Amino acid sequence: MTILVTGGAGFIGSNFIFHMMEKYPDDRIVCLDKLTYAGNLSTLASVMDRANFRFVRGDICDRETVNRLFEEEHPEIVVNFAAESHVDRSIEDPGIFLETNIMGTAVLMDACRKYGVRRFHQVSTDEVYGDLPLDRPDLLFTEQTPLHTSSPYSSSKAGADLLVMAYWRTYGLPCTISRCSNNYGPYQFPEKLIPLMIANALNDKPLPVYGEGKNVRDWLYVEDHCKAIDLIIHQGRVGEVYNIGGHNEMANIDIVRLICRELGKPESLITYVGDRKGHDLRYAIDPAKIHGELGWLPETRFADGIRKTIRWYLENRPWWEEIISGEYRNYYEKMYGNR
Ligand code: NAD
Ligand code: TYD
Repeated sequence: MTILVTGGAGFIGSNFIFHMMEKYPDDRIVCLDKLTYAGNLSTLASVMDRANFRFVRGDICDRETVNRLFEEEHPEIVVNFAAESHVDRSIEDPGIFLETNIMGTAVLMDACRKYGVRRFHQVSTDEVYGDLPLDRPDLLFTEQTPLHTSSPYSSSKAGADLLVMAYWRTYGLPCTISRCSNNYGPYQFPEKLIPLMIANALNDKPLPVYGEGKNVRDWLYVEDHCKAIDLIIHQGRVGEVYNIGGHNEMANIDIVRLICRELGKPESLITYVGDRKGHDLRYAIDPAKIHGELGWLPETRFADGIRKTIRWYLENRPWWEEIISGEYRNYYEKMYGNR
């Protein structure tokens, strides 16, 4: 079987490719990635020369490239990770988010209709549900929670989700959607909270916490997310949405303090900076549906996952040092310079 993975040179897509190649050595994986600032070919070095792997540099918005790839490879399953994924960047410049996240998803689904697939899987986010209050720990996102987005990023992901459901209902395209909480683990781009704090702490740089650091996210180790998607594409019901997450809520400040402790760095590095515009207060997933239907539960405890992640960043310094030495420096100055 051939599986097309878009956005596979990014954080979650690359971890998904590693998981799939290990578990299904007879499958062929084709990765289509534009290699934006967030895509990194060196991440895929360990699979690049395998006979059952092919990397294609291309844009999911480019209909000609996408159609040609479908004609060459006839993928049976398409898993769409390709996206602009950072909320702060979407606040600065929403346009590319609408293009890649909405139009790109439409182009991929048009190709799926034209050439036929067994499954189109859309990797979405819990951010499409908006946020929950900090003082109501009893409230969780279920698949029935209305879409109620806050940022250009989450709005573009919600737009794509609506389009996916429309292609299922209108054309019968066999689609599934997963909406996952915040991931952490190896190969995450150092603009996101956990790798940014690890990299800054290791370089004895200030740790910029937005607002009061009380915002809460529900953290999931990336491998657990990949296992959930594997289950959904093989056993999930078409036309269904599955929430993925796992009762692991933490306030940002507690994560930053934990990283300081693990690295033996002083908390005096913590610097409170201006809050993110429209900053979502709390995300929390109810994973009852995927647990009940597919037997999925998160396997990695946060205490273990964060240690593994920190160790990975310690052992793979060249991977992230190269990133933070390039264009990222301009980004960092723009985002944090006058905050
Ligand atoms: P990422 O930013 O690390 O990687 C995105 C990848 O997509 C990069 O390799 C990039 O080059 C590629 N890409 C971007 N635009 C493209 C285009 N037009 N054509 C082809 N490739 C393109 O993102 P990530 O954190 O790995 O997230 C992957 C998916 O999971 C996204 O759809 C995101 O919305 C979703 N998601 C992420 C999280 C999280 O915590 N990171 C949580 C839930 C859902
Ligand atoms: P992020 O990793 O950008 O993920 P998301 O916004 O998609 O949840 O941010 C996670 C949380 O950490 C969010 O509440 C914003 C906060 N944050 C900071 O406090 N400082 C930072 O430098 C970054 C990048 C994020």
